[in-house]
Amino acid sequence: MENKKGISESKALQWIEEQSKPFVKLMSYYRCAMMEIETKFNVLNEEFSLEHDRNPINGIKTRLKRVPSIVDKLGRIGLPVTIESVENGLNDVAGVRVICSFITDVYTLAESLLSQDDITLIDRKDYIKSPKPNGYRSLHLIVSIPIFLAHEKREMKVEVQLRTIAMDFWASLEHQMRYKKTAQFTAEMEKELSDCAMESALLDVRMDALRKSVLEGGEK
Ligand code: GTP
Ligand code: MG
Repeated sequence: MENKKGISESKALQWIEEQSKPFVKLMSYYRCAMMEIETKFNVLNEEFSLEHDRNPINGIKTRLKRVPSIVDKLGRIGLPVTIESVENGLNDVAGVRVICSFITDVYTLAESLLSQDDITLIDRKDYIKSPKPNGYRSLHLIVSIPIFLAHEKREMKVEVQLRTIAMDFWASLEHQMRYKKTAQFTAEMEKELSDCAMESALLDVRMDALRKSVLEGGEK
């Protein structure tokens, strides 16, 4: 038999579950939107590899922002923790990172995605043409995509990051170093980091030129 405390505890848990339902639902919508975008890239990769005998996509990573990070970011930008704040104030709850073979693939894939009539471009940041001061390079798109539910259609925002293997190599290692709690970057270290980014950018350009030469007379 349940005692008084047991009853109130289970009621409290039930109440918490009820309260969090809309949020759990929202996160599930973001997951669906992320899956839709991932599928679009897989389709583009499939079509391209049939036509050109190579894969423009080396890998796709998806990630859903975790609840503590969402709450943290809303606090930082001064928004209350509500469903509306998440939907209107955050662009990066759902993230899709597309690792491409060559720089040209980054732009071809971005244009192919953006030309699809259910995709709306909300923001575009080209950190390849204008790298960040530390050397970070990638093409960032914030897009909106509809997801079709049983009784409604909802537009959801997804952050898409397109980068080459070399850009990903640099960004992954930089991220590992930067987010280590004990990390301390001196001016020399920052300089070394940006030099490494520059060297990897040069590699990308050389590999792209090489690809063009290899294919001379064939696919350009
Ligand atoms: P956030 O508030 O961090 O989302 O930044 P933002 O809204 O100004 O967007 P921005 O396009 O600058 O960066 C978004 C995401 O790109 C980050 O969450 C990282 O995944 C990636 N990114 C941006 N800058 C860097 C960088 O310097 N190093 C690494 N490793 N990743 C970066
Ligand atoms: Mg972010």
